[in-house]
Amino acid sequence: MLSAVERKIEQFIADLNDKEVTKLYSKLPQGKRLRAKLIFKIAGGSLSVVKTAAIVEMIHAASLLHDDVIDDAYTRRNKPSLNALYGNKTAIMLGDVLYSKGFFELNDISSEVAKTVSNAVVQLSLGELKDVSLSKTFNLDKEVYLEMIYQKTASLMEAAAGAAAVLAGKDKKVYMTYGRNLGIAFQMIDDILDITMDTETLGKPALHDFEEGKTTLPYIYLYEMLSAEEKKKLHSLHRKRLSKEEAQWIKAKMQEHQVIQKSYLEARELVEEAIELMNECGEEALSTIAMQMIERDF
Ligand code: FPP
Ligand code: MG
Repeated sequence: MLSAVERKIEQFIADLNDKEVTKLYSKLPQGKRLRAKLIFKIAGGSLSVVKTAAIVEMIHAASLLHDDVIDDAYTRRNKPSLNALYGNKTAIMLGDVLYSKGFFELNDISSEVAKTVSNAVVQLSLGELKDVSLSKTFNLDKEVYLEMIYQKTASLMEAAAGAAAVLAGKDKKVYMTYGRNLGIAFQMIDDILDITMDTETLGKPALHDFEEGKTTLPYIYLYEMLSAEEKKKLHSLHRKRLSKEEAQWIKAKMQEHQVIQKSYLEARELVEEAIELMNECGEEALSTIAMQMIERDF
């Protein structure tokens, strides 16, 4: 099934008849194709489903191309990012090509699918903007963090599940809730891995988020637990290049206060809620993909 998506994306790219775009696209690591898997598991493998999965994956790839420029990230999935290889301008423009071709093809599916997916891209962009603004502050508001990750990451998974439900004639609302929970949990885990994984496994420098100014869930929980003195210290390290000792201090404090476990449990609860919802609909196959979401280690 997934190979049908790869072929569809390649075909969409070939339509553009542009050698440079074809070459650049071939340099992108393929990724886990989680959104496509989600769509197939909900809606089977008709042509509209394959096209929708390809479009969603193209939009996702476009958002990561832009995100790596915004985050100054030079690796993606353990490989040099496109901005590292060819510069920011090329990465942004390839993102624009993938995203606009995806939009063009979306018109061919159905008005409801098109609205669902395009609305998610608006949310995605608003979420990324919020992420950038928040990283200039020392955000300690969990609700603000949750809203931002919903928009930045969960909105596209929510839309992928919703669009698939529409194509399959299933209850859109229930599947959107499933996708939303999975998406929020996915980003929570992504943020946890930025802290727990070593640089090599992660494919990007560990604690990069905090250096970039992002106070993700474990930092929000940690701050609540620290003494006044320690709070000051954590604040002083925010948005700074961390020495080995400083990074180790943060990790040790997180260990002491069990904030990684607390954050992980919260992600797990969201996934369990999603699984229950799907079990009620007799969709046991959707449990496996939900578990993969929280059991991934990179
Ligand atoms: C990754 O976050 C970023 C996103 C999931 C969304 C990015 C969205 C945009 C750049 C909006 C523009 C959209 C289009 C379609 C052109 P992260 O930095 O926390 O995750 P990472 O660890 O994978 O980098
Ligand atoms: Mg990023």
